[in-house]
Amino acid sequence: MSILKPKGRLSLCADYVREGSRLADIGTDHGYLPIALCQSGKIPSAIACDINPLPLRSAQENIAKFGFSEKIQTRLSDGLKEVSSDEVDDIVIAGMGGELIRDILIAAPWVKDGAKRLVLQPMTHHDDLIRWLYENGFAIIQQAAVLDDGKYYTVLSTHFTRKITPCDPYTALVGKLDLHEENSRGFLNRSLQNLHNKSKGEKSLLPVVQQLEEALHEAE
Ligand SMILES: C[S@@+](CC[C@H](N)C(=O)[O-])C[C@H]1O[C@@H](n2cnc3c(N)ncnc32)[C@H](O)[C@@H]1O
Repeated sequence: MSILKPKGRLSLCADYVREGSRLADIGTDHGYLPIALCQSGKIPSAIACDINPLPLRSAQENIAKFGFSEKIQTRLSDGLKEVSSDEVDDIVIAGMGGELIRDILIAAPWVKDGAKRLVLQPMTHHDDLIRWLYENGFAIIQQAAVLDDGKYYTVLSTHFTRKITPCDPYTALVGKLDLHEENSRGFLNRSLQNLHNKSKGEKSLLPVVQQLEEALHEAE
């Protein structure tokens, strides 16, 4: 059987999953992430969830094809609704908008458990997600950006600590990204372009545009 090796954004998600953890992959689609993690031996088992039957079927087919039907369960689930706290250690939610990821977390209050690790990869509105995490007692453990097929993405891992972190617009945009790292600057430059366009109609955004511009310039 061939080796499934995720690249780019999914590879970064895989890096942030803890060795030996029981995984829930929410919005699994093709199921490649849990398959690759079980195949590499990094995790013992996973629950691959999707809200739509068609992607779930494609995950089931891939899981069977790679020989992991014993280790990876599939579940039709809106977010984490069909998953219980005692079944999983780490949760990946990748390839969805930041607002949807936030809503999935709000609907599953049991994720507010410091022992759980959340690995999140928002496609849009990463700043709204980070603001919600900080204002609801989560800390970002790791965050990085990656260039994948010509586009920049960010992935973060987080857990509940109870501590509320005050979050201004700049903090929400930058999170824990290291501005000295090239991909982080690429990702934030793209955010800056979007903000710049938005600020033409929303003048209140101008201070954060300027703050981010200066920080990126200094870090170059
Ligand atoms: C773009 S795919 C991402 C697939 C994979 N996670 C990745 O990052 O490559 C998004 C998947 O999320 C699923 N999805 C959307 N909303 C969902 C929800 N509320 N709960 C579970 N799955 C959801 C979709 O059906 C789709 O299969």
